[in-house]
Amino acid sequence: MLKLRWTNLSGLVPLFLSQLTNLNFLDLSFNNLTGSITLELAKLTKLGALHLDRNKLIGTIPESFGAFIENDPDLYLSHNRLTGDIPKSLGYIKFTVIDFSRNQLTGDFSMFFWDK
Ligand SMILES: *[C@@H]1O[C@H](CO)[C@@H](O)[C@H](O)[C@H]1NC(C)=O
Repeated sequence: MLKLRWTNLSGLVPLFLSQLTNLNFLDLSFNNLTGSITLELAKLTKLGALHLDRNKLIGTIPESFGAFIENDPDLYLSHNRLTGDIPKSLGYIKFTVIDFSRNQLTGDFSMFFWDK
């Protein structure tokens, strides 16, 4: 487990985090992280929860996050500056918690209501 919330972190989400493949909990919320969400975070397939909320992240939610289907993690991406469509790949995941609120996401989100 790696919990770094409220630690005043800035800059990009570090790439090396994607090598910590045994992580089951990653919390980088309430920081000042910028740039787009690292696609490679999808390698953390054992995550039970990913908190990237309350940062200044831009860009789209990576299609690669479909890989989270292995563990159906809780996904907190709220209060960022994310744009674009929610990837269809997320439609296969049996989420318990998704918080994408307070972003500028667009398009169709009916994938969350697909039969699984
Ligand atoms: C983010 O940066 C601003 C400006 O440097 C600072 O005032 C604020 O406390 C920082 N917020 C967090 C949560 O680190």
